[in-house]
Amino acid sequence: MLIAVAGASGRLGHHLVDVLQERGHGVVPISRTHGIDLTTAVGLEQALTGVDAIIDAATWPTPDRDAATSFFTTASRNLHDAGQAAGVRRMLVVSIVGVDRLKGDYQTAKVAHERAALAGPVPTRIVRATQFHEFVGQLLDWGTQGETAYLPDMRTQLVAARNVAETLVDVATAPEFSQQDGPALEVAGPRPENLVDMATLLAARRGRPAKVEIGSHPADPDVEANASGALLPGPGAILVGPTFEDWLETAEV
Ligand SMILES: NC(=O)c1ccc[n+]([C@@H]2O[C@H](COP(=O)([O-])OP(=O)(O)OC[C@H]3O[C@@H](n4cnc5c(N)ncnc54)[C@H](OP(=O)(O)O)[C@@H]3O)[C@@H](O)[C@H]2O)c1
Repeated sequence: MLIAVAGASGRLGHHLVDVLQERGHGVVPISRTHGIDLTTAVGLEQALTGVDAIIDAATWPTPDRDAATSFFTTASRNLHDAGQAAGVRRMLVVSIVGVDRLKGDYQTAKVAHERAALAGPVPTRIVRATQFHEFVGQLLDWGTQGETAYLPDMRTQLVAARNVAETLVDVATAPEFSQQDGPALEVAGPRPENLVDMATLLAARRGRPAKVEIGSHPADPDVEANASGALLPGPGAILVGPTFEDWLETAEV
């Protein structure tokens, strides 16, 4: 198959490109790095010529609610319009497990993303993933003040981005594909963890910062939801890949 990956230069997107190529599929990478901006859509229809499926793993880089919502809804409409004109037959959109149980700005924008994606003409399914192993380092960087990192009290079933990519490719290339008519598919790692415990392992591996503590932003509307397991998957989730601890043994961090 020929598959377009929106967000091909990203944390998840580059694994999608690798997995597709390793399995013998053709790939059309889409990102500003690859010369296509999803908000202007210049060149998008031409890039999608001959494409069988789109996997949308593009995202706005900041948690600003209005900017992120505008990005997701515009990019989604452009992918649908150009995809329909080019004859694309299926689309997978990456989202976040539990996102509709949260009230934060980025999470609200992702819910708008899901709605826009399901409203478009190309048959679409949402695949919700838990937080990536690779995301813990970014959270550690964002939360570090001097010798201490402050991270939210969060229950999360961390998953390796590579294994999420493999699951997405399985679904995108399956013989059967139909427009979603029920809950989103969920993909998660093998077991629930406390984010602070995993970030502490990562900090020890990096040699910095010296301490990792619970410390939520005072304006975070999801403090209770994060701590009580709102981000954990349901019983039907596909569980894949290594635990964070096992992944950390060989990961470049
Ligand atoms: N990170 C996590 O732990 C996690 C967990 C669950 C679900 N997700 C979801 O997974 C998806 C991918 O996340 P990620 O962490 O891989 O994101 P990421 O590393 O920030 O990658 C974002 C991608 O979007 C592209 N992009 C941004 N603006 C663009 C534009 N205007 N036009 C075209 N491409 C654009 C970026 O490429 P350029 O900058 O080159 O344009 C990049 O390839 C997101 O939908 C996210 O919500 C993430």
